[in-house]
Amino acid sequence: MTETYRAWRVEREGEPGYGALRELPLAPLRAAGGVLVRGAYAGVNYKDALSAAGRGKIVRTFPCTLGIEVVGTVEASDDPAFAPGDAVIVHGFGLAAERDGGFAGYLQAPADRVVALPAGLSTLEAATVGVAGYTAALAIDAMQLNGWTPQTGPVAVNGATGGVASLAIDMLAGLGAEVHALTRQPDDGWLRALGAAAVAAPLAVGDRPLERAAWSGALDSLGGAALDALLRTMQPDGVVAAFGNATGNTLPTSVLPFILRGVRLIGINANSPMPLRRRIWSRLGSDLKPRHAAHVGQTIRLDELPRAFEALLEGRGRGRFVVDLQG
Ligand SMILES: NC(=O)c1ccc[n+]([C@@H]2O[C@H](COP(=O)([O-])OP(=O)(O)OC[C@H]3O[C@@H](n4cnc5c(N)ncnc54)[C@H](OP(=O)(O)O)[C@@H]3O)[C@@H](O)[C@H]2O)c1
Repeated sequence: MTETYRAWRVEREGEPGYGALRELPLAPLRAAGGVLVRGAYAGVNYKDALSAAGRGKIVRTFPCTLGIEVVGTVEASDDPAFAPGDAVIVHGFGLAAERDGGFAGYLQAPADRVVALPAGLSTLEAATVGVAGYTAALAIDAMQLNGWTPQTGPVAVNGATGGVASLAIDMLAGLGAEVHALTRQPDDGWLRALGAAAVAAPLAVGDRPLERAAWSGALDSLGGAALDALLRTMQPDGVVAAFGNATGNTLPTSVLPFILRGVRLIGINANSPMPLRRRIWSRLGSDLKPRHAAHVGQTIRLDELPRAFEALLEGRGRGRFVVDLQG
């Protein structure tokens, strides 16, 4: 084991630039106990880009290693639940906010926050899935628990080239659903290769409280007027899973989709308790396993993070950036 490791750090609040690569001693991580994870891959999320740019007030403890998720192998564990060499996933629970995150060669985490890599996923596939794919799977699972099935009718996914949305399209198509991808981007075949049956511009609906009923299910990355448009175009008993706020935090709408069509609006928060995490990750390795992870993921080095942050902040990201932590 080397005595130092590399980590992408922000040193203080509002720091100019996007943080920097630092060499840190390993001894404090070893001394902290819990599980010591040698990082393999870490997906990059919009939240990381905000933190790197000093926005969003996500990081609470400075200095802080960024990266809200990581996949790697156990180097040492003081909990018998994990043994050296086990492949694991860590995300959420204050990672890259209150404690050091995953853009690093090593990470220390309490054992009760570590998920064993499910059967059916490689470390690279799991990192490509990451929090984005976990959120997509959680949304699909919630839709199913609320009566949606792939046979009920078409599903709309907005912000379609985004990390969560693109993985959701892949998963939904894998389940046999008819997926309509809504995107600002030109249709160059990328979303169809994931399984989208149709690719269309963001919804432009009229101003009636209820418009033509089109979708049995919908996944919303955006919030605001885009979520309102989905609600007003749902079929009776349609289910909408809302997880994103890429266009804002407000939701101007009316109660009519709820009381006249029985539309269900489900909120999705990926920072789930552990039993739910294990169940969803198990689905991600089996019936919800994305079939096109290699198409969605783009592997970069730690020192290329600023390029990924910029692309995400400018809405130019497509699919997922995945950092090769040992590369
Ligand atoms: N609830 C949770 O636990 C949870 C977990 C993960 C992520 N999230 C949130 O979910 C959202 C999506 O996350 P992500 O990782 O998929 O982000 P992302 O990769 O940045 O994708 C967001 C997509 O939304 C569209 N978009 C972005 N800015 C827009 C704008 N100003 N107007 C219209 N469309 C815009 C773009 O798609 P097109 O160019 O294709 O239209 C973009 O690719 C974010 O708000 C994120 O914070 C929430």
